[in-house]
Amino acid sequence: MSETSFTPRVFSGIQPSGGLTLGNYLGAIKRFVSMQDEDFETVYCMVDLHAITAKLIDPAELRHNTRELAAGFIASGISPEKSILINQSQVPEHAQLAWIFNCIARMGWMGRMTQWKDKAGKNAEAASLGLFAYPALMAADILIYHATHVPVGEDQKQHLELTRDIAAKFNHDYGEDFFPITEPVIEGAATRVMSLRDGAKKMSKSDPSDASRINMTDDADTIARKIRKAKTDPDALPSELAGLDDRPEARNLVNIYAALNDQSLEDVLKDVGGQQFGTFKPALAELAVEKLAPISSEMARLMADTDEIDRILAKGAEQARVITAPILKRTYEIIGMVS
Ligand code: AMP
Ligand code: TRP
Repeated sequence: MSETSFTPRVFSGIQPSGGLTLGNYLGAIKRFVSMQDEDFETVYCMVDLHAITAKLIDPAELRHNTRELAAGFIASGISPEKSILINQSQVPEHAQLAWIFNCIARMGWMGRMTQWKDKAGKNAEAASLGLFAYPALMAADILIYHATHVPVGEDQKQHLELTRDIAAKFNHDYGEDFFPITEPVIEGAATRVMSLRDGAKKMSKSDPSDASRINMTDDADTIARKIRKAKTDPDALPSELAGLDDRPEARNLVNIYAALNDQSLEDVLKDVGGQQFGTFKPALAELAVEKLAPISSEMARLMADTDEIDRILAKGAEQARVITAPILKRTYEIIGMVS
C-alpha cells in the first residue's frame, strides 16, 4: 500500500454507563491528559451511543452520567483549550460512518469479539443488535477523525485490531488509502487495574461489589477503608519484581501505587520491599487520597452547575464537525453516493 500521511491525531472514548473508577483513571484518562502535551491533536469522547448497547438506561440517569463523565475528564486535567471534548451522539457523523462499517465488517469478525461473548453471555439471541455491532461503531468513532493513535486499557486491544481490519478492508475494497491504520497506545504502569477483592478480576464499574473498586467520587474515608480492606496475602512485600509472581493482589496494590506516583514498579519495590501490608496500605491510602481528592472536589464543583459542562460539549461538537463532516463526505463519494 502506498504511504499516505495523516495528521497525528488521538481519539479515545469512555462509556457514560455510570461511575468512573480508578481503573478508568489510571488505565486511560491519565494517558489522555499527558497526550495533550505531545505532538497530537486530541479528541476525547463520552460514548453515549455505546452506553445503551448492553441495556437501556433511564434517560435522566444517562444525562447525569454523561455530564459526570465530562466533569471527570475536565477535573482530571483534560483541557477544553487543548482537546476537543464531545458527546458522541452530538456528532452525527459517528453513527453515519458506523452504518458504512456495518457493511464492511463481517459477522464472523464480530462474533469472535471476547467482549461480545462476555456481555451477550449464554443468551445471545436476546442481546441487542447494537451490542453485536458495537465494535463497528467504535471503529467509526476513531476513523471519522482519521485518528492515528488510540490510548486505551488492555481490554480494548481486540477492538482496536478490528478497527485496523475494517480500515484495511475499506481501503482495499475501494482501492484507496483513505483510512489510517490506527496504532493502539496501551502503555503505562496500570493498563489493567484489578479488583480490590479479587486479583484475577478487572476493576470495573459494573462489579456488584462497591468494595472491589475505588470510584472517582469516593471521599477520603471511603478510599482509605476500601484500601484497608483490600484482599492481600500474609507475606511482606518483596524488593524485586520476581517476588510479585503468583501474588496478584500484592502486585495490583503496588501497581496502583506506582501509577499514582508516576514511578516504575521496580522503584516502588526498592522503597517498600520488606514492608508488611499494615504499613503499606496506609501509605497507599494517603497517596490515593492526595491524588484523587482534588479531582473529586473539582468534579463536584462542575456538577453543581452543569451549564459550564454543556457549553464545553456544545463547543466540542462544533469543533469536531469541522473534522468529521469532510471525512464523511469523502467517504460517501468514494462509495458512490450521489450528492
Ligand atoms: P469503559 O469504562 O469500559 O468504557 O472503559 C474506558 C477506558 O478505561 C478504556 O480505555 C478501558 O480500557 C479503561 N479501563 C477500564 N477499566 C480498566 C481497568 N480496570 N484497568 C485499566 N484500564 C481500564
Ligand atoms: N469500547 C470502549 C470501552 O468500553 C469505549 C470506546 C468507544 C472507545 N469508542 C471508542 C475507546 C473509540 C477508544 C476509541 O472502553
